[in-house]
Amino acid sequence: MLTVNAVEGLRAHVGRWRKAGMRIAFVPTMGNLHAGHMSLVSRALAHADRVVCSVFVNPTQFGPGEDFEVYPRTPEEDRDLLTAGGVHLLYAPSVDEMYPYGADGATRMEIASLAGQLCGASRPGHFAGVVTVVCRLFNMVQPDVAVFGEKDFQQLAIIRRMVRDLAMPVEIVGAPIRREADGLAMSSRNRYLTAEERERAPELYRTLVSLSDALAAGALDWPALRAEGLARLERAGFEPDYLEIRHGEDLSIVGPEVRPLRVLAAAELGRARLIDNVGLSGPDTDR
Ligand code: PAF
Repeated sequence: MLTVNAVEGLRAHVGRWRKAGMRIAFVPTMGNLHAGHMSLVSRALAHADRVVCSVFVNPTQFGPGEDFEVYPRTPEEDRDLLTAGGVHLLYAPSVDEMYPYGADGATRMEIASLAGQLCGASRPGHFAGVVTVVCRLFNMVQPDVAVFGEKDFQQLAIIRRMVRDLAMPVEIVGAPIRREADGLAMSSRNRYLTAEERERAPELYRTLVSLSDALAAGALDWPALRAEGLARLERAGFEPDYLEIRHGEDLSIVGPEVRPLRVLAAAELGRARLIDNVGLSGPDTDR
């Protein structure tokens, strides 16, 4: 696996591959890689001749008081995993390389209405930071296809929307959520959980599954189901941020009878903010 830190090197390698007629896939990450990320890499390998993966902890998507400083950084382990996973090029830029005029002064993207709801409501500016860095990374890598996980379902929907709105020539592929054996969605932030919180954490997924099962069975009183779900999470020690249903493609606000439908939640458990979602009997879920 090639490792490059500067855009010139990245462009030289990718340019050579492109000249040889190869299709390029891209997997952007913030590092601290786990099996969830590696499933994105497998998908990317299935879609292209060459796979580029970036590791960059992006300061512009963290709000004041969030975990940017302490976000887990594990460069050696990441490099080993990516090498073993068959990635062809690791792009690991510094903050200066990504934002030559400083992260605060960088030209920023604005996004459509999707950004102010769900996670965006409690993390103002987060999705603007995500699309800013993803747009910049797309311009640097110029991939044919890019793979994003469905765990960050709102991020995936916002990136699809950005690509459509700005006519970017990149195919966006969503990859199903990878879960631990007890159902907890894999996430770098799971390492913030204490042993005791880790035991309780799968209750988030179980709650989403039971709501989704009720909806699939024809239940239509979403406010009642939602109240039940929130109470269940609180009993398990979570501080819920939101528990909502949305259209399963564009995240528009819809009723419980609509398909495809997603049930989405975010909740704090100790130091960790966990997010998860479940699709209603669509092919795009690994349930
Ligand atoms: O999903 C992530 O890890 C990040 O939001 C991304 C897409 C790499 C942008 O920093």
